[in-house]
Amino acid sequence: MLFDIKDLQVEYTVRDSVARAVNKVTLNLAGGESLGLAGESGCGKTTLGNAILRILPEGGQIRGGSINLNGVDLVKLSEEKMRQVRWKEISMVFQGAMNSFDPTMNIENQIAEAILIHQRDTSKETALERARELLPLCGINPLLGKSYPHELSGGMKQRGCIAMALALQPKLLIADEITTALDVMTQAQIFTLLRDMKRKFNLSMIVISHDLAVLAKNCDRLAIMYAGHIVEIGTIQDIFDHPRHPYVKGLLFCIPNFAGGREIIPAIKGAPPSLLAPPQGCPFHPRCPIAIPKCKTAAPQLLPVNTNNHSVACYRKDYKDVIWK
Ligand SMILES: Nc1ncnc2c1ncn2[C@@H]1O[C@H](COP(=O)(O)OP(=O)(O)O)[C@@H](O)[C@H]1O
Ligand SMILES: [Mg+2]
Repeated sequence: MLFDIKDLQVEYTVRDSVARAVNKVTLNLAGGESLGLAGESGCGKTTLGNAILRILPEGGQIRGGSINLNGVDLVKLSEEKMRQVRWKEISMVFQGAMNSFDPTMNIENQIAEAILIHQRDTSKETALERARELLPLCGINPLLGKSYPHELSGGMKQRGCIAMALALQPKLLIADEITTALDVMTQAQIFTLLRDMKRKFNLSMIVISHDLAVLAKNCDRLAIMYAGHIVEIGTIQDIFDHPRHPYVKGLLFCIPNFAGGREIIPAIKGAPPSLLAPPQGCPFHPRCPIAIPKCKTAAPQLLPVNTNNHSVACYRKDYKDVIWK
């Protein structure tokens, strides 16, 4: 599989104002590869996921760019054709999904229901059979299939959500903040499950989280978003060992130092801009300690800094000195 997004633009229109939540986003993903998508709350991560599946909420619209899956531009597909893609080719585990199970339906029936919704020609029996196969595959004891949501732990419910998303063997899974509400042990188990699935089915994944450390541990590559833009993208090693964007350098500075066990106080002062009235030029320039006049007039493009697919959107990407203290 080859998944390729180019210059994607997504806007929300709220009354008379327009918020550009995804701004000229370009990224690609190979078969069996996992990309972590990180960034502060409100920077456009969920919007990007929803845009890929074309399930934007009211007021949200794709305004430009392309989303290529094996050479087919999903942006141009009819709604009917897009229905063939959703869940079968690309599926998503939604933020908070584990808390939106139907309380009156047991877990195997809920998984079967999801199969029936997305593959209408399936019989109820076949769907239920498939649901029962999926349970152990996702680390759920089949005996728990008859349990209701309130009888299951958070981790088991999240496994149920993953089972649902993988029911039709998609090529790409988008996982949006799926471990945010879980304890650290359960979080690790969920990621072990995802890694197993990735290997077993050559599944590609976009893993959305605001937690850089979690993404570093569980993904092959990392993209950092800021105010609707991807500001840096590369392998985990590129990003962690050779960050180039001042914002990314600041974020890494905020991560607790594992070796020293020391919690470091956030370095970047201020808050991200409102997407309704973003600054001209680079969206990060008002908080950037090394901004130059050019940064205030034109947004820098995401350009490669090595042959490894490591790209950065910053005019000052070659600045070597310490920025954050
Ligand atoms: N349903 C919506 N209607 C209008 N604006 C929205 C809606 N959802 C998100 N936005 C806008 O898009 C921005 C990005 O939101 P979102 O994609 O949910 O960010 P993230 O997932 O990174 O927290 C928000 O800051 C908000 O301005
Ligand atoms: Mg979100």
